[in-house]
Formats: sequence, C-alpha cells, structure tokens
Amino acid sequence: MATERTLSIIKPDATRRNLTGKINARFEEAGLRIVAQKRVRLTKEQAQQFYSVHAERSFFGELVDFMISGPVVVQVLEGEGAVARNREIMGATNPANAAPGTIRADFAESVEANSVHGSDSAENAAIEIAYFFAGCEIAG
Ligand code: PPS
Repeated sequence: MATERTLSIIKPDATRRNLTGKINARFEEAGLRIVAQKRVRLTKEQAQQFYSVHAERSFFGELVDFMISGPVVVQVLEGEGAVARNREIMGATNPANAAPGTIRADFAESVEANSVHGSDSAENAAIEIAYFFAGCEIAG
C-alpha cells in the first residue's frame, strides 16, 4: 500500500478534556506519523468553509458552532493507507456505533462532540491539508 497523508482534527470536546496526547498516542501506535500539527481557534468563516460540503444538512449550524466552541488541533498524518487507517482507528461518526477500542468509542461524547475528524478520501485529504498547511510546514 502506498504512503499517504490525511488531515486530522482533534475537536473542541477533546482539547477541552486535555486528550490531545492520548489521541496522538493512538495515531502513533497505529503506525501513523504526525508530520504537521498546530493548535488553532477556527473562525466561524473558516469552519463554514471547511464544512461547506455539509452546508445543506440540518445540523450544519450546530456543527459549525461546535467547531468554534474551543481550540482544535489540526494535523497531517502520514503512513501506509493513512486515509483508511485513520478512519478505522477513529471509528464510526456516532460513538454509539463505533467499534470497541476506537478513538470515538473511547473518547467521544456524542455524534456532534465526536473528538476527531479525518479526511474521507485521498482526494479530499489533499484539499483539506492545503486548507490548513503550507507545504513548508509539513516535515515528513
Ligand atoms: S461522515 O464521516 O462524513 O460520513 O459523517 P457524516 O454523518 O456525513 O457527518 C459529517 C460531519 O458532520 C458531523 N455530524 C454532526 N454534527 C452535529 N450534529 C449532528 N447531528 C451531526 N451528525 C454528523 C460529523 O461529526 C461529521 O464531522 P467530521 O468532522 O467530518 O467527522
């Protein structure tokens, strides 16, 4: 399998509970390398733009408000099949459906406060990474 990169976001519910290190350990134990990382507070405009693919969904306003409710940690993860590997270890969107031992099963509070975001395809990963990072900020 090819080496890939994916965008990860540790969401406000997890930064509030000081879980960044525990979540990063899950990535590293799964063979993913954190090749870029920064802690930021998204503006409303940034969150709306980042999630614009979901603009028509009923929960869009709640999702945007949640993502600006506290700091987030945006990251680039690198490894073999990183997009799929990360989604596997994150678990299902709704923690009630997440497999035991996944990040969301162990840490998420709800379908909204679900601790992590991960790109859903290599194509979207490239777009999402470019949204947050300049090439010179990524050290593979
Ligand atoms: S996925 O993983 O894209 O297939 O999941 P999906 O169900 O399409 O959800 C897309 C993102 O919306 C968030 N979400 C919600 N936020 C607030 N309230 C409700 N009810 C809700 N349902 C889904 C979900 O956490 C996904 O966020 P990201 O950051 O993409 O994982």
